[in-house]
Amino acid sequence: MTGCIYIEDIAQHEGQQVTLQGWVTGRRSSGKILFLQFRDGTGFIQCVGGRNDIGDELFDRVDHLPIESAVRVTGEVRADARAPSGFELGLAGLEVVHEAEEYPIGRKEHGDSFLLDHRHLWIRQSQQFAVLRIRATIISAVREYLDGHGYLNIDTPILTPAACEGTTTLFETEYFDEKAYLTQSGQLYNEATAMAFGRVYCFGPALRAEKSKTRRHLIEFWQVEPEIAYATLEDILDIQEELVCFVVERLLRERKPEFAILKRDLALLERVKAPFPRVTYTEMVDLLHEKGVEFTWGDDFGAPDEAVISESFDRPVMVTRYPRGVKPFYMAIDPEDERLTLSVDMLAPEGYGEIVGGGERLADLATLEAAVDAGALPRADYEWYIDLRRYGSVPHGGFGMGIERLTTWVCGIHHIRETIAFPRMLNRLRP
Ligand code: 4AD
Ligand code: MG
Repeated sequence: MTGCIYIEDIAQHEGQQVTLQGWVTGRRSSGKILFLQFRDGTGFIQCVGGRNDIGDELFDRVDHLPIESAVRVTGEVRADARAPSGFELGLAGLEVVHEAEEYPIGRKEHGDSFLLDHRHLWIRQSQQFAVLRIRATIISAVREYLDGHGYLNIDTPILTPAACEGTTTLFETEYFDEKAYLTQSGQLYNEATAMAFGRVYCFGPALRAEKSKTRRHLIEFWQVEPEIAYATLEDILDIQEELVCFVVERLLRERKPEFAILKRDLALLERVKAPFPRVTYTEMVDLLHEKGVEFTWGDDFGAPDEAVISESFDRPVMVTRYPRGVKPFYMAIDPEDERLTLSVDMLAPEGYGEIVGGGERLADLATLEAAVDAGALPRADYEWYIDLRRYGSVPHGGFGMGIERLTTWVCGIHHIRETIAFPRMLNRLRP
């Protein structure tokens, strides 16, 4: 709209008369002066006006306006050191665009399921605003890093005939008269594009029918997956570390107001600098034992085990060389110990656990063929993937970073469901 500005640009308009378009998030008045809490989708600001400023009739109407009514406000931008935005608006005029019905989300505490049922409205609330703005910047920073470091974005199919991350979490669908699955990961296709373009990444939704009702599992999540020809495990560790540092640095530069809304302790994020500790799975099993946790070598770390490990470090930790039994068929085998894989999981600190998973891939034809057969995977659907080991096979690797896992950690929030606009979880498909 011409003549209107956004709250995020308000500092450029100090002392000027401006118009903002948005919604009322709260109000109070002394009968003489009105304090209107206002948001426009880019930020929050308080508007202050007296009866003289807007006239008695409008004053009385606004004084009874339900929250979430849509309004245009006009007034002077005044610096206010106490305001979170640094400014307030001295009301000179107000136009009611839509008077809302009584808003279902109030100031009182609501239960989780009530808020999730009202997710289409809940996303307006300031914490949700902050989390989703941080998420958007994470995505932008990830793309900025990869696009700026020679990676070509080649997205991979959503409908596929083959499993990547195990057959137990596949969503099955009809594909005309065939069966297809929704993608769990673009990795297998990435390996093909990496052999064609060198450094690639795909970025899209991953779908897993996981029957896990935890605070870190979504059924539908977004994953960025770089894949690099000629990369070894060591290269993969360097790239993950650099990417995560790059993203956190940009967030600290651009998203301070959002972190303030979340009351995030930024000292914890300022520590996220290279080098990240690099440890092995076996060392972490020893660590668990030292801490009195019962754990059998060869098992996968559960969320509580990862929490214990990640609380032992002040920045993300990269755990390498997991046993073959807990990793998918495509993982390269450690040449120094064939019980192990050349894999890595990055665990976020503060108990958040895994945010990145990846490693080096099996590059040898016969070993891969044996792994496909051992996994009881239908050979016909993997023949194209096996082909990659027939024509110029090289060491290569990559990783997948879960956008919502990363967002949960950097925001310091409890549950992953708040990091995506419309979460899909076990027992929740709506709204
Ligand atoms: O560790 P995962 O399963 O690895 C892969 O899918 C590889 N194919 C990636 C690759 O090497 N290209 O998943 C990667 C990341 C995890 O570290 C986690 O951040 C996220 O995806 N993730 C989930 N996020 C939310 N909900 C779930 N159910 C998730 N499962 C994995
Ligand atoms: Mg994993």
